[in-house]
Formats: sequence, C-alpha cells, structure tokens
Amino acid sequence: MNRTAIIAGAGGAVPPRIVTNHDLERRLDTTDDWIRTRTGIRQRHVVEPGMSTSDLAAEAGSRAMKQAGMTSADLVVVATTTPDRLCPATAPTVASRMGLVDTPAFDVSAVCSGFIYALQVATNAVMAGAAESVVVIGAESFTTILDPEDRSTVAIFGDGAGALALRAGDRAEDGAVLDFDTGSDGSLRDLITVRAGGAEQRATGRPAAPEDAYFRMEGQSVFAHAVRRMAETSRRTLATTGWGVEDVDWFVGHQANQRIIHAVADQLGIGAERAVSNIHRVGNTAAASIPLAISDSATAGRLRRGDRVLLSAFGGGATWGAATLVWPDLPAA
Ligand code: COA
Repeated sequence: MNRTAIIAGAGGAVPPRIVTNHDLERRLDTTDDWIRTRTGIRQRHVVEPGMSTSDLAAEAGSRAMKQAGMTSADLVVVATTTPDRLCPATAPTVASRMGLVDTPAFDVSAVCSGFIYALQVATNAVMAGAAESVVVIGAESFTTILDPEDRSTVAIFGDGAGALALRAGDRAEDGAVLDFDTGSDGSLRDLITVRAGGAEQRATGRPAAPEDAYFRMEGQSVFAHAVRRMAETSRRTLATTGWGVEDVDWFVGHQANQRIIHAVADQLGIGAERAVSNIHRVGNTAAASIPLAISDSATAGRLRRGDRVLLSAFGGGATWGAATLVWPDLPAA
C-alpha cells in the first residue's frame, strides 16, 4: 500500500463582523476603488475583542471533523501567525475545545505558507504510521496585530480559519494528499515582521514602540518574491507528482492579492478560470487563506470528486510551499 493522508472533511469559519472597503474609506486615507483594483478585496471579516484565533480554529476544525464523521483524532496541527498567546501554543486549546482529550497538538509557524507546512507535517505523520487521523487547521486573528493607521496592511488582511480532517489511506484513492515542495530564505525576514514580542526584544513590562509592536510589510518586494517563489515551488511539486499544468483542475494560491494569484497562474500557464479565489470576500487571512478558500469552494460545489488540485503559498520568513492533491467525494457538510 502506498500510504498517505486522505481528505475526509473540510471546514471554514469567519467572525461575524464585516468591514467593507467603504468602512475603511471613512477612517483612513484610502478608497474602495484603490483597494479593489490593487488587491481584488471588497471586504474582510474582523474579530471583535473577546474573540480569538482558537475560537475560529475550533469552529473550522469541528466542522471538518463532523463532515468526516470523526469523533477522535491522533494529532491536531494548527498553523497560525497570531496565536492566542506567545506561550503556550494555541493547538492544545483548540483540541480541548473540539472535545479531543489527551491528543497531541502543536502549532506550526510559517506565516502565509503555514497551512502547507502543517499539511506536510500531518501527511508525514500519517505516512510514517504515527497517526491514523489528523485535524490540520490554518487560523488567524491577523487584524489584532495590524497598526490601525497603516492603510497598506489594514486594507489587505482579515481574520478566519479553515481546516481539513485527514485519515490514513492509499495514494490511489480520491482525496489523497500527494506531494509537497517547501523552502525558506531567512535573509528576507524583515520583509514581513513583528519585531517586538519575541526573545530578541525582551519583555520589559512596558509596551513596545508602535513601529516594533505592529505588523510591518514591504508590500512591493513581497509581491515580487511571492510571484516568483509560488511559481517555482508549484512547478517543482507538479514535476514530482508527474502532472503537467493541463492536468490541474484547480489552482488554490494563497489569497494574498488577486493580482498575485493571476500572475502566478499566468506564469504557470493555468487559465484564470481555474484559479480559486475568495479574496474579495475575506481578504488575506494568512495561514487560514488556503484552507478557507478550499472550504468555500467545496461548499459552493466547485471542487468535485477526482479534481486535481495544486496549492501554493508564499509568506513571511520568507517561506514558500506547494502541494498536490485529488479532491474526494465528501458528504454534505
Ligand atoms: N489606499 C490608498 N493608497 C495606498 C494604500 C491604500 N490602502 N496602501 C498603499 N497605498 C499607497 C502607497 O502609500 C503608495 O503611495 P506613494 O506612491 O505616495 O508612496 C502607493 O499606494 C503605491 O504603493 P505600492 O506599495 O507601490 O502599491 P502596490 O501596487 O504595490 O500595492 C500592496 C500595495 C500592499 C497591495 C501590494 O504590494 C501587495 O499586495 N503586496 C503583497 C502583499 C502580500 O501578499 N502580503 C502577504 C504575504 S504573502
């Protein structure tokens, strides 16, 4: 048997509060037109105070488990850039909230590539025989780390979570997670960063300076790196699986910017109609973006049994990664 992870359920969650571009127009020096034409985003969901990453993660994870008919799991992996706390990890809280007792659970931190890293770790655990079932979740309350005055990031990021429930099975089955390519370049860490809050800037009991406390991104440079790396990592993964671009039914790129998704699809030779997109509704939800886009597409009936899917992401670190999988026949959610 060619053992791998099989997708048995998918789930998504977004906080109820919606902030439209018009809402932002009223308090920042920006316009709906600028945001829509530069990014494709029309609105984003935002957590209210009192709601956090674990709430969204547990909701998405529970939905995926329910669809899979799973009541237990051998492992929970949560990809997030915005954990509930610096210490401990968020995954144990999420596992408890999903009713999973004594289950190993840990976080993966690779910013916008986090879900692909987490899916790879989960798939490897299944392939190694260490787990029969895994819940892998990407979840963010990204708006909690943004500078409310920074129009270049407030306009882009949103909050949400997406999850896949995985079981052990055979590579030839529908739902099989097939191959991965991942990489990083730490010399680019300043392109996407929150400088304070870690070991480098020690806690002093006083708040950090705003330029260090908030998330900062060098948008133009990130844009260029993202297009290049997402195209390269996608090509390597397709070659490993033995698929040509014409074999790909759906390209699920990290929902960073509609122009990035189109540019990568274009470089790969994948038509825009095969590029999954929900960025207009949710913005860039970092580690949650790929599983949330998958969950939305599955719910809308766009992803169908046997469809060949290519995932690809670029994120802070810098990190990047891609994966190939075949969509299963899932019961109604
Ligand atoms: N409204 C109006 N103007 C804005 C704005 C906003 N929300 N955000 C930035 N601008 C301004 C800039 O200040 C700049 O003004 P200036 O020329 O007077 O300095 C101008 O628009 C152009 O900025 P630039 O950064 O060149 O725009 P851009 O076309 O590159 O778009 C991003 C900016 C952030 C949308 C784009 O770079 C991007 O999407 N980058 C990747 C982001 C990403 O994917 N991050 C996630 C990690 S993968």
